[in-house]
Amino acid sequence: MTDPKRYLVTAALPYANGLKHVGHLAGAYIPADIYARYLRARKKDVVFVCGSDEHGTAIPIQAKKENTTPRAIIDKYHEAMKQDFDDLSIQFDVYHRTSEPLHHETAREFFTMLHENGDLETKESEQYYDEEAATFLADRYIKGTCPNCGSDRAFGDQCETCGRTLSPDELINPLSTLSGKTPVKKQTKHWYLPLGKHEQFLRDWILRDHKDDWRHTVSGQCRSWIDGGLQSRAVTRDLDWGVPVPLEEAAGKVLYVWFDAPIGYISATKQWALNNNRDWKPYWYDNDTKLVHFVGKDNIVFHCIIFPVMLKLHGNILPDNVPANEFLNLEGDKMSTSRNWKLDMRDYINDFVKKDNGGGQCVDMLRYYLTQIAPETKDSEFTWKGFQDAVNSELVSIFGNFVNRTFVLMHKLCAGKVPKLHEAVLDDNDKQMIADIAAAKESVENCLENYRFRDGLFQVIDLARKGNQYMQKKEPWILAKQVAEKPELQQQIHNCLHICLQLTANLALLVNPWLPSTAQKMCYMMKVVEKMLDWENAGKLKLLSVGYALREPQLLFRKIEDDEITYQVNKLKSGALQTNETPAPVPEKPAVPAKDIIQFDDFAKIELKTATVISCEKVPKADKLLKLEVDLGTEKRTIVSGIALHYTAEEMVGKQVVVVTNLAPRKMKGIESQGMILCAEDKSGKLQLVKPENPVDPGSNVS
Ligand code: 2FM
Ligand code: ZN
Repeated sequence: MTDPKRYLVTAALPYANGLKHVGHLAGAYIPADIYARYLRARKKDVVFVCGSDEHGTAIPIQAKKENTTPRAIIDKYHEAMKQDFDDLSIQFDVYHRTSEPLHHETAREFFTMLHENGDLETKESEQYYDEEAATFLADRYIKGTCPNCGSDRAFGDQCETCGRTLSPDELINPLSTLSGKTPVKKQTKHWYLPLGKHEQFLRDWILRDHKDDWRHTVSGQCRSWIDGGLQSRAVTRDLDWGVPVPLEEAAGKVLYVWFDAPIGYISATKQWALNNNRDWKPYWYDNDTKLVHFVGKDNIVFHCIIFPVMLKLHGNILPDNVPANEFLNLEGDKMSTSRNWKLDMRDYINDFVKKDNGGGQCVDMLRYYLTQIAPETKDSEFTWKGFQDAVNSELVSIFGNFVNRTFVLMHKLCAGKVPKLHEAVLDDNDKQMIADIAAAKESVENCLENYRFRDGLFQVIDLARKGNQYMQKKEPWILAKQVAEKPELQQQIHNCLHICLQLTANLALLVNPWLPSTAQKMCYMMKVVEKMLDWENAGKLKLLSVGYALREPQLLFRKIEDDEITYQVNKLKSGALQTNETPAPVPEKPAVPAKDIIQFDDFAKIELKTATVISCEKVPKADKLLKLEVDLGTEKRTIVSGIALHYTAEEMVGKQVVVVTNLAPRKMKGIESQGMILCAEDKSGKLQLVKPENPVDPGSNVS
């Protein structure tokens, strides 16, 4: 579609039944976020919507597992997922939920229109029924043997082992997961979407009109579905969790989750419009809106076949593209929640982002690696070693290094100010670099417009790589040594650094959709407002004014150390649920970075003595603190120590401990602590008191 008036970008609504892993992130959310950020930088009218998918059997099943209610489950995971997306800089314009009344109303209206227009069929059919639990069984509640791979862990909707989509009737030896009994068949009435009637429309629209612009993996999957014969799809279910079917005769039935979930994009848009005092309708009805769905490959059929048929019948626009990604594997195996072979976004946030002092560098490192390995055309693989290599050899050594060298040299050779460009003395290297900067805009833009985010990012890094090569050829630090004898070289130095600085500004702008925190940090260093990141500035050589004083550089990225990688690999392996296998050992924590060497005199400043605990009590309103009275032989002291999770107050009484006695007193929870007790931390994180092998007198020196 050429030059649409507005864009609506959607990312698959994640089920609110558990935390999401980096496979989900790479599959839908990062590409969608890159695309939306790019459109915003181009000043396009864009709305990026998402939200929690809170219906379907997945929710009551999780509630059963966690021994709680479906409502408690959706509330918990909605908040958790929203937070995780936020922590990883996924910037939705609205993050809605399908349990909201606005969504129920929207889904009801949608169903009613299709029903009243005669677009749905009804059918009485025999469905599996659990006589003991007195309920019809949703597909997920039926277990059996997969007809495709023979696994006995297949469900009525999908085989977890081979991934094949199933219907309960295909299962061999079906059993109810509620009672464990073989279910019986019972008559029930349901409403169906007759997809077969829309075959020609789908063929024309997908296989003819979008022959060239949709990914082959996507249109290929659609072709298989269409050629395989499009069956009518039930859009209602016998279940008590979901949007009730708005018909009297359908009491006790709800809309099938895959009918209501994509309508969630519409209700999310409505919510966004309410929040921003805008009209939502053009986004779903006007042909000059470009609608793009970002999903993983398991969602292709719903977004390319079923939902478009629903949209067509309902009078809405159709998606312009569905750039679905393939799957991301992890360390040589499929990601799997049931086997706990996964890296949750939350785990990465806790292990990296939270330790990053909010600077966003670890967020961008993950966004970088997940784009670099994005499964755009085939399944790909996350490995911790690959993550380390991508960060250390590309982000740190190429991108970060170029920016840092540019700033350091500008401060050293140009007094921290943007030097002048002397056009008359530009040499071939300068001219080539200028041409490369100008050309990058088009090549990066072309990738973004065509959903080739991986290539686009490569182009940006490649530009930084060219920057390093250019600087290496020009060697301004060598020229600086010769300038006393040859003053004309000063112009060469200025040209080189001028170009490198303009390149830095361009890099910030170009990298912004992928690595927003990095772009922000670069703006700070360049002392420019974020308006400079407007896409229309890309390729320009006048982004920084001559004579403008820039800040000192900050390192953009830190290195990933070997022990961090070892820790993560061990953690993954030890956490995996493997049957008939000895559990792998508890992972080692990464070694705490070694502290600086100190001289003996510094060590000798610390006074350590043995002491005996005379009395001990918990500090109120402080889970971790104990207040101890200790006997140091010549005096008694009060010490507050953070060991309450490891020792009870009772067991501390009478124990011999080692105390730092000349530490400046400090108040904790209003109590002055007059020393510190030494502990060692074991592998599992438990604290163990440090004490003499055999009891010694209180107050004995420790050295
Ligand atoms: O696969 C999933 O996680 C689904 N909850 C995606 C729904 S996308 C859309 F239809 F809402
Ligand atoms: Zn299977």
